[in-house]
Amino acid sequence: MRFKKKIIIGMICLAAAACGSTARLFPDEKNLPAYQKKVPRITYGQVKEGAVLYSKTCSGCHKLHDPKEYTIDGWNKNLTEMFPKAHLDDKQKQDLIRNYLFALSK
Ligand code: HEC
Repeated sequence: MRFKKKIIIGMICLAAAACGSTARLFPDEKNLPAYQKKVPRITYGQVKEGAVLYSKTCSGCHKLHDPKEYTIDGWNKNLTEMFPKAHLDDKQKQDLIRNYLFALSK
């Protein structure tokens, strides 16, 4: 009995942790004013599109880094290195990912 309880509690914790981490990566519309302080005039649609592209393009070789790990300057440096690694040369897609990361940055 005790054993089963532990497993169930463990599973709930895991699920909660997983939700917590995706929630940090996924934008929230109520934070749009904060995003626009970093990236003026960005729309919520653009932030969302950038988030989806980011998770598709940048999760192949390592875990997705939380946008909050870096400042705009830090992301700029990382992206200069990572866009070629990801073979992403579509400028429009680069902009969407860049602006999403800038908007949610440290
Ligand atoms: C082809 C594999 C590959 C892809 C795709 C890739 N990365 Fe990386 N990334 C790496 C490797 C390898 C490292 C660690 C070594 C290094 O810094 O070069 C790394 C490190 C990083 C770091 C940490 C840098 C540091 O200084 O610690 C960040 C942030 C990052 N990647 C972001 C991204 C983003 C954003 C994308 C999507 C545009 C992306 N990566 C796509 C291979 C990849």
